Amino acid sequence: MQLINNVVVIFLVLVVGFNNAKSQQISYANSTELIDSLLIGYDKRLRPNYGGDPVNVEVSIYVLSFDSFSDCNMDYTMNIYFRQYWNDPRLAFQRAGTDVLSFGHEFSKLIWLPDTFFVNEKHGFAHSVTAKNEFIKVHSSGDVARSLRLSVTASCPMNFRSFPMDTQVCPLSIESYGYTARDIKYTWKNQNAVGTENTLSVFELKGHIQKSQVITVTSGNYSRLNVEFELKRMTGHYLTQIYIPCTMLVILSWISFWLNRRAANVRLVLCTLSLVLMAVGLTIVSYNMPKTSYTKAIDVYMGACMTFVFAALIEFAFVSNTSSDKDDISAKIDKIFRYGYAALFVTFNVIYWLVY
Ligand SMILES: *[C@@H]1O[C@H](CO)[C@@H](O)[C@H](O)[C@H]1NC(C)=O
Ligand SMILES: *[C@@H]1O[C@H](CO)[C@@H](O)[C@H](O)[C@H]1NC(C)=O
Repeated sequence: MQLINNVVVIFLVLVVGFNNAKSQQISYANSTELIDSLLIGYDKRLRPNYGGDPVNVEVSIYVLSFDSFSDCNMDYTMNIYFRQYWNDPRLAFQRAGTDVLSFGHEFSKLIWLPDTFFVNEKHGFAHSVTAKNEFIKVHSSGDVARSLRLSVTASCPMNFRSFPMDTQVCPLSIESYGYTARDIKYTWKNQNAVGTENTLSVFELKGHIQKSQVITVTSGNYSRLNVEFELKRMTGHYLTQIYIPCTMLVILSWISFWLNRRAANVRLVLCTLSLVLMAVGLTIVSYNMPKTSYTKAIDVYMGACMTFVFAALIEFAFVSNTSSDKDDISAKIDKIFRYGYAALFVTFNVIYWLVY
């Protein structure tokens, strides 16, 4: 009895397994046949609609993250899904129950692809962990969608005149390398073809603008897409690291006017200490800042603080040097400085923060 049971079970397993294998074989074979039939006589060197109207390549971008932003190199790095959509009539098919064929990166070697590049890219790479991050989808109408995950470092011309209260506009330009506007026409997929996640810590993304244009270079007219990211720098870091310490050193110098003129040691120490701290601080801080030939907003502030601290030192030198018969003149100067100095610094701050 036991033996018969076992035999029956084994028989059932074999039959079911064989049937499964058979049905799978059939559907594999049918799909293979379909794909092969698409590629028979397909010449991937020729663009769709060769000799006719330009191929319309639609583009959409999703920015996963803005990874770094270099003031010194004037570039920025981002991680994007880069998607392109075009129609290749040679890949249209008719098969009941099948509307779309999905492929990995292998299929991209078999068909024509637009030779898109980023005009202002410095370097970049396509991700390939664990396999090439790419897919291709072919719809029955011949519509092809290709998606890639890329890291792109693109140049971004920056203006630091109002640094660190600045807003930078960073572009990304998309163009075909070889095909002129007669062969490829790029358009944005839709009004919101560029999606972003706001992940920058140094900058705040204010928005972006999509543009498309035809540019003329010596080798012909090319269709180009542009997206400009508007990025506003976060000022918090500079406020705590530079503006507040600077202001405090000025206040420190200002305190010296309230001390007794005869407490020369204390006043000297206060003034020189402020000056030295300021000089050291400036050197350290300016290391990490973009170097420009023009004056940045932050230079104005630091320069003004330095001048204020230095003025306090000069005043002290003058006051401590007057002879005792001119004591009341010194007292007067001290008094003027007590209020004038503070008033001047406040005025400077008001004007500064209104301008920038
Ligand atoms: C595969 O093709 C055969 C004959 O061409 C057909 O009978 C069968 O239904 C097809 N199978 C699938 C899953 O499309
Ligand atoms: C490029 O465009 C300009 C202006 O639209 C046109 O005059 C010129 O003939 C075009 N050049 C080519 C090579 O198509």
